[in-house]
Amino acid sequence: MENNIKKILVTGGCGFIGSNFIINQIKNNHILNFDKLTYAANKSNLSKYADNPNYTFVNGDISDYDKLIDVIYNFKPDSIVNFAAESHVDRSISGPKDFINTNIIGVYQLLEASLKYYDSLKSHMKENFRLLHISTDEVYGSLGKEGYFKETSQHNPSSPYSASKASSDCLVNAWNRTFGLPILITHCSNNYGPFQFPEKLIPLIIINCLNNKKIPIYGDGKNIRDWIYVEDHCIALNDVLQKGVIGETYNIGADSEMTNNDIVNTICEILNEKSPPKHISSYKDLIVFVKDRPGHDFRYAIDSSKIRNEIQWEPKYAFEEAIEGTIEWYLTNKCWWEDILNKKNSQGRIGES
Ligand code: NAD
Ligand code: TYD
Repeated sequence: MENNIKKILVTGGCGFIGSNFIINQIKNNHILNFDKLTYAANKSNLSKYADNPNYTFVNGDISDYDKLIDVIYNFKPDSIVNFAAESHVDRSISGPKDFINTNIIGVYQLLEASLKYYDSLKSHMKENFRLLHISTDEVYGSLGKEGYFKETSQHNPSSPYSASKASSDCLVNAWNRTFGLPILITHCSNNYGPFQFPEKLIPLIIINCLNNKKIPIYGDGKNIRDWIYVEDHCIALNDVLQKGVIGETYNIGADSEMTNNDIVNTICEILNEKSPPKHISSYKDLIVFVKDRPGHDFRYAIDSSKIRNEIQWEPKYAFEEAIEGTIEWYLTNKCWWEDILNKKNSQGRIGES
């Protein structure tokens, strides 16, 4: 139904979660994907939509206010969903500048451009307009063995990445409270699934196993992350966009806490069955414990009762099921990650050792 089609401007849609979100949304909406195409981007994730009239790609930087204004005024979005970010903690430690530029300055420019556009809208478009900012649970810092992150938990970031995302949350909230921009913020836990760049833990383990490379576990491997399948996250984002209350924040998680040691061992066991190692008896033989990450947060765990109770969202996938599907995806899409590994500008950063 043409009339029900919404126009959504997605920033950072060539990255991991943005690509999955667009695939999920494009059946019902017209998407404009505005992406800088950094090392983490992959246009090929969405190449099957290149000729789809409901898909438009623009290469651009959210720090470029003039380009944003041009694109926003031409496209006239009903909503803007901001995934654009520098997203890897280790890179934020070795080079924080890009994180400040995109995650703070870029978000400021996006807010300014969105506000100018919002203020220009007629009242019926104004009522429906939303800017959804995708943030992370890492803004809350580290938990000990007990407790959960609630929406009311204090921001207490540890890394340059999480500090830059916490800063962006403050800006987004300020543009709502001071200027009346209708915003929503989500804080999600660690995602896994198709199209995740192979510097993050889960794809890194799978690919290092398949390439017979060492699997580096930081410190003692007892750090805990709360894992969610990317499709569950994308459905939650859709629900927040449709039903969320303006100015509110929603935590998204699937109650799936695991230590890094558990994650590594589980993946090795599944791969031992699905693609048996050739020169060793188990992929677990590739595990090495390496120097810990500085400022390494011990535990993340999400209390997602607000989104479950107020928006009636709940995750569909159990970890055991979705990790099998994810591993299958990396086994059947070898070209996808081999192309990334072969790219010159990524060499020495991925699958080291
Ligand atoms: P990603 O690194 O895979 O992708 C980021 C995308 O943003 C890339 O396509 C990149 O080209 C683009 N980008 C970067 N800088 C840009 C700029 N200045 N202008 C326009 N585009 C730019 O990231 P991801 O894992 O898909 O994460 C997406 C968002 O979700 C991020 O904001 C991240 O903080 C948040 N998040 C991620 C996770 C996770 O587990 N991956 C969990 C919670 C929240
Ligand atoms: P990562 O995927 O980088 O996500 P985040 O740091 O944002 O949670 O890392 C997940 C966990 O895995 C984190 O505790 C760090 C750890 N880790 C390793 O032990 N080895 C690795 O090679 C990587 C990339 C991460």
